[in-house]
Amino acid sequence: MQNLVATALRYEDSKLYVLDQRRLPAEEFWHDCQDENQLIALIQSLAIRGAPLLGIAATLWVGHCARRGDNATRLTKTIAALRASRPTAVNLMNYLDRLQALLDNGADNTALVADAVAIFNEDVTLCDAMSRHGAALVKPGAKILTHCNTGGLATAGIGTAIGVIITAHRDHKNIKVWVDETRPLFQGGRLTAWEMQNAGVPYQIICDSMAASLMQQGNVDMVVVGADRIARNGDFANKIGTYSLAVLAHYHRVPFYVVAPRTTIDVNCAGGITIPIEQRDANEVRGVSGSFGSFQWAPEQAPVFNPAFDVTPAALVTGWVLDTGVVSPDEVAAGALAYPTD
Ligand code: MRU
Repeated sequence: MQNLVATALRYEDSKLYVLDQRRLPAEEFWHDCQDENQLIALIQSLAIRGAPLLGIAATLWVGHCARRGDNATRLTKTIAALRASRPTAVNLMNYLDRLQALLDNGADNTALVADAVAIFNEDVTLCDAMSRHGAALVKPGAKILTHCNTGGLATAGIGTAIGVIITAHRDHKNIKVWVDETRPLFQGGRLTAWEMQNAGVPYQIICDSMAASLMQQGNVDMVVVGADRIARNGDFANKIGTYSLAVLAHYHRVPFYVVAPRTTIDVNCAGGITIPIEQRDANEVRGVSGSFGSFQWAPEQAPVFNPAFDVTPAALVTGWVLDTGVVSPDEVAAGALAYPTD
């Protein structure tokens, strides 16, 4: 299998390396994946994360197993185990189902490896396409609010919502970005801030609870977010806190865009109500942990509710920025997300 390089994932000399995003921005530590259980643990602990990228990591592992000669029965088991590693981001299921379909149709291991590589390369192209479509929506001088992390750390390419932001910045649109810290795991404050800094995009971190007053003061011109699963009716799951931003944006008449590749659409899902939402460990909310160590401020064993994602109804979305272009609410209502085409 050829070498492949992304910001947080590398396949080099027949080894899969994963950047540990839990340790960013303080430390850049790469894991050398030895087996499927290690990769599943890295996915579940969010060492590797972001809807497209966690799916691509699983895909490359299957490609790696095919390259080393695992048989179809073994590959099917590996695909099933990886497919169950996280429940909400549908890219994981979409990519692995594509590989499983090849196996079911009698494809040989060479074809499987080629398709795993193709999925990686396609994501780079999809990111470029949606970034261009989204950047065209950005007005000069826009103040853009974003949530979670959707950049090179979450994809094989430039990113989804962050791809739009970086492209608009490169287009000299003179933008400024409000980075939601994104409680409880700070994907915004740690990872998006790191990416904004690396790309030279002017930004400020805000606590999630500050978005309302910024909008009230007229300091937000648009909201752009990514997605983990988009239903056929346009409802979508994304990092917890996205729905409240959409409600706020609606109230304040701020355009709210979701940016995602076609691989984030679940054509089997009619509406957001059936999207499975991951519940995570209580300790993520009782305190903080990262490269700085661990600290708990809540009472020992305090009861916690910790859904990792929420669902934003289509009615709150101004437009879906896909690799195929910007899709309007009327087009979504007419079925544009059922089978996205070029
Ligand atoms: O739990 P995470 O960090 O994997 O969640 C990531 C998100 O919610 C992102 O916004 C989403 O995957 C879009 S990534 C391009």
